Amino acid sequence: MAVDYTTHDGVAVITLNNPPVNGLGLSTRAGIVEGIERAQNDPAIKAIVLTGAGKAFSGGADITEFNTPKATQEPTLATVIKAVEGSAKPVVAAIHSVAMGGGLELALGAHYRIAAPGAQIALPEVKLGILPGAGGTQRLPRAIGLEAALNMIVSGAPVMSEKLADSGLFDEVVQGDLAEAALAFARKVGAQAGPHPKVRDRKIEHPNAAGFIQFARNTVAAMAKNFPAPGKCIDAVEAGVQNGFDKGLAFERECFIALVQTPESRALRHAFFGERAASKIPDVPSDTVVRDIRQVAVIGAGTMGGGIAMNFINAGIPVTLLETKQEALDRGLATIRKNYEATVKKGKLKPEALEQRMALITPTLSYDDLKNADLIVEAVFEELGVKEQVFKRLDEVAKAGAILASNTSTLDVDKIAAFTKRPQDVVGMHFFSPANVMKLLEVVRGKETAKDVLATVMQLAKKIKKTAVVSGVCDGFIGNRMIEQYIRQALFMLEEGALPAQVDRAIEKFGFAMGPFRMSDLAGNDIGWAIRKRRYLEHPDMHYSKIADRLCETGRFGQKTGGGWYDYKAGDRTAYPSKVVDDMIGAFSKEANVERRKIGDEEIVERLVFALVNEGAKILEEGIASKASDIDMVYLTGYGFPLHRGGPMLYADTVGLYNVERAIRRYAARTNGDAWQLATSIAELAAKGQGFNG
Ligand code: 3HC
Ligand code: NAI
Repeated sequence: MAVDYTTHDGVAVITLNNPPVNGLGLSTRAGIVEGIERAQNDPAIKAIVLTGAGKAFSGGADITEFNTPKATQEPTLATVIKAVEGSAKPVVAAIHSVAMGGGLELALGAHYRIAAPGAQIALPEVKLGILPGAGGTQRLPRAIGLEAALNMIVSGAPVMSEKLADSGLFDEVVQGDLAEAALAFARKVGAQAGPHPKVRDRKIEHPNAAGFIQFARNTVAAMAKNFPAPGKCIDAVEAGVQNGFDKGLAFERECFIALVQTPESRALRHAFFGERAASKIPDVPSDTVVRDIRQVAVIGAGTMGGGIAMNFINAGIPVTLLETKQEALDRGLATIRKNYEATVKKGKLKPEALEQRMALITPTLSYDDLKNADLIVEAVFEELGVKEQVFKRLDEVAKAGAILASNTSTLDVDKIAAFTKRPQDVVGMHFFSPANVMKLLEVVRGKETAKDVLATVMQLAKKIKKTAVVSGVCDGFIGNRMIEQYIRQALFMLEEGALPAQVDRAIEKFGFAMGPFRMSDLAGNDIGWAIRKRRYLEHPDMHYSKIADRLCETGRFGQKTGGGWYDYKAGDRTAYPSKVVDDMIGAFSKEANVERRKIGDEEIVERLVFALVNEGAKILEEGIASKASDIDMVYLTGYGFPLHRGGPMLYADTVGLYNVERAIRRYAARTNGDAWQLATSIAELAAKGQGFNG
């Protein structure tokens, strides 16, 4: 039973009991209505308390029910709220921990609300691409005023209950025992004659509502570029202001039904569940006992090591930072300090916190100082020989049970593990640059990595606010292995007729933060060159366009050399199309006997994105990733894939795998075919009319 009903001396207590967050699924909704009716029919009951068991009042509608028959089956949330609001006996919502979305809307339907401090109060629907669909856009402005409500609705951000103490939302914010206080409050109002107050009857007072609504519309315009929901939130609030509660409510409902079916909402819900699913590893039970991580060590204080260390100290975990030379150590520490100083300057960190954080770092040149570390992350030069030296040394000094992690981006984690006598303790922790900023962490599971090591690293990732995704061992892991195919296609298209600015423009219009050529100029074209040189040796039969090598041979490594695929002016990061490069591309096509043709934006987007999808499908087939949503999380958090499209695999589902297959076959027939070995799973799923996500 998802709802408990108990009576306490004239007060009925309806307790939502649907772990983990008392989502308002069908059985919970039915239980609430039943409880309200039961209380009406019991003459001994004078008042009703509505509350939640466990760690929430309620986290809102059950998102897993969206677009299923259960979502619209009676009693809907609207019916539940009507029953609560229409109760002849006063209903007191007793809120603690979390009241979000439908949970807050339910509480707004009660006649009275009391709250414990520290409860997160929010209407976060906009973050799922929808709007509050059970009266939130109508009742919250009536409860706390137009401006405060619109801010909450459009941002979706939680506000602490104590901050809302005087807002009009709560009748009391209670310091002591909430359950006791709720009973006492209910007895008090139960003794008063009705009718009891309803939020819907309050007026929205604002000196210039129309002006503020227009201001809000302007404010969300940029953020709402790819998402319809923020604008609809404003429309719904406006409808209530202009036409009254009932018309506003009906309009809100219409908008909700339309939004919940949009691809943008599907993408955002996919990302919400994808993030949570990523931390679940199929063969690692959720109750696996994790290792205690109190002390971390980082080897190498370069670009990555410094950023990695910052992640841990930001979470209050002390870090020992080891380098080979004092100068390198000093340089690394100075960079960390500079990063924190920049954060202080922006007002995002208190000056005294800077010193507290720096004090958590113990710099050292000696491996003896690593013997207490529970986790050691290696971030030294990307050479197997150097990794070998480091891991052999770590094997000697690290305490038993310490986790030994490598930040390698291209080397074989199994080979690294084999340098030690404890391969079960070795794992890849592939951070992305800048490591203190980027959310993605690929956790590379070696063939011997112990399950509790994985569980520990996944839990730790949450603590340092990363989205961790498990990848098996393969060249490039999930993210870089896929991006290689995307870049190959980008280069082929230059050879066939496109120019860098056209390719970038098309994929940026699709929603990527930065196209492949601007990105490559930023990262340094020499990095890709070095990788390709290795590839030519490893896979001499694989077809690559040599056009990027030609660029690198002229020394155009990107922004750092003042020119790459584009021209740059000193002190200006703007990418200016380069006549020199465009001529070079034309000449290259001629030499290669390729007749240049006009390549449309649609082809550019399909070839880039389907190259990701095709490789992603192979990654799934090989078990390198355990689910399609993991791949999407890698691309959403590490590669700037547009959030409103939900990641490459969800996007492929949205387009339909039948269409993806047809496009890939078409490109394989027309263009460099060996780059398009269709993944068998795409054809299989397409034949069954299925997608990667079912
Ligand atoms: N529906 C279904 N499942 C939900 C859920 C919801 N509304 N909210 C959370 N969950 C699930 C999570 O998927 C997770 O499941 P798992 O353990 O199987 O992975 C579990 O609850 C715990 O969630 P978290 O890991 O996020 O736990 P936290 O304690 O860190 O956070 C929370 C709790 C703040 C409630 C957070 O889960 C959250 O922000 N949830 C989303 C809240 C939300 O968006 N509500 C609005 C729903 S839409 C709505 O109400 C429409 C209405 O207007 C008609
Ligand atoms: P870097 O060259 O900036 O830093 C490496 C540091 O390691 C230097 O400070 C060097 O003095 C130190 N070092 C070298 N040998 C050492 C040893 N034996 N013991 C202790 N310290 C030693 O390199 P970067 O970019 O930080 O890369 C480090 C690792 O991270 C590499 O494995 C790389 O592939 C990986 N990586 C790099 C990314 C990037 O964007 N730079 C992204 C993800 C992973």
